[in-house]
Order: sequence, then structure tokens, then C-alpha cells
Amino acid sequence: MTPMDMLLTRASTDRLQDPAPAPAQLMDILATAMRAPDHGRLQPWRYVVIAGENRPALAERIVASMARVEPEAPAAKIEKRRSRFSTMPMIIALGMHLRPEHKIPLWEQEMCVAAGAMNILNALHTTGFGGVWVSGALVEDPILAADLGLSKLAGFLFVGTPDGAQHTPKRADPALFTAHWHGQPVTFGADKD
Ligand SMILES: Cc1cc2nc3c(=O)[nH]c(=O)nc-3n(C[C@H](O)[C@H](O)[C@H](O)COP(=O)(O)O)c2cc1C
Repeated sequence: MTPMDMLLTRASTDRLQDPAPAPAQLMDILATAMRAPDHGRLQPWRYVVIAGENRPALAERIVASMARVEPEAPAAKIEKRRSRFSTMPMIIALGMHLRPEHKIPLWEQEMCVAAGAMNILNALHTTGFGGVWVSGALVEDPILAADLGLSKLAGFLFVGTPDGAQHTPKRADPALFTAHWHGQPVTFGADKD
């Protein structure tokens, strides 16, 4: 596959099995995050890796967080979260080390973290792994972030080897989201009724 084929065939999946990336592979994959555009070189990305026997303890922290931020969550949703966080081959908590006082706007710092996460997803795909970025109300829970040693969460990546039953999602036509400016405001095909 060409590099373009790799980019164009990536798809998120939570149908993941072992193996997760080995330590050296993981560092290579995370190195791609550090190629994300980073205004001011603030390096706002932080990664907490949870694997193996540490997963059930994370799942319990997730359930405790849900009790705080989603007290009305049905038992089935709680059990689904407990099961996923206990059994995914690897979980990477995406942390944001933000500097609100800095002249670089906060949103640019957050986008840098997001760009890093996108690189990780592409690197996983390129190396035969897969993953998905998940969030939920618990991402706003400062106690959960602190449990992980983070000041702010941007979500979690579930990481592993795709189980092979992956579907190929239909993708949008980029022409609908693109316009050429000729001196007047543009309109987009995507916004037409
Ligand atoms: C910040 C962020 C949070 C997300 N949270 C969730 C989530 O909690 N649950 C979910 O099913 N998808 C979530 N998604 C979407 C998936 O990561 C994924 O993009 C989506 O399933 C579409 O798959 P694709 O990446 O192959 O287009 C989130 C995406 C982003 C960028």
C-alpha cells in the first residue's frame, strides 16, 4: 500500500484483540504524535498507557467517575464501560497539559493534542494495529483525570489488533467540503439542501 492508501483506508474500530503494540512499537507510534503542528512548541500532549493487569483497576475508576458525572446512567451502560475498559488490549488516556495563561490560545493547544491523536490513529493503522478515540461525560471529570496523573483529559484511545471483521465506512466526497475563493464568500456543496 502507498502512504496515501494507508491514510485513505484507516477506519476506527473497537473490535480489537491482542496483540497491542509492544513497548518499542508503541514508542514509534507515539513519536508520530510529536510531529503534530505545535504552535509555540508547548508540547501539550500527555499519554497514560494502561494494559494487562492494570485494566480492571482503570475500569473501576471509570465506573466511579460515571457515578459522579452520570449518576442516572443505566446499569447496562455502566457494565458495558466496565467491560470495555477491562478487556481492550491497550488503553491510552489522552491527556492535555494546557497553559491557559500562555499567549498561544487554549484552542490551539487543544487542537495540537487532537492532531497528535490523529497521527497516532494513522500510525496504528500503518503498523497493522487499530483503534478508536472515545470520550463521554467522564472526560470532563477532574477527579478521573487526577486519578491518572493528568490535569485534563481529551478522551481515551482503545488500541489493539483489528479482529478482521472490520467494515469499510462510506466516506464523504471532499469536493462537497471544499470551495475556491475568487473574492466573494464561498458556499459549500455540503451545506446545500
Ligand atoms: C474527541 C472525540 C471523541 C469521540 N468520542 C467517541 C465516543 O465516545 N464514542 C464513539 O463511539 N465515538 C467517539 N468518537 C468518534 C470515533 O472516534 C470515530 O471517529 C467514529 O467512530 C468514526 O470512525 P472513523 O474514525 O473511522 O471515521 C470520538 C471522536 C473524537 C474526535
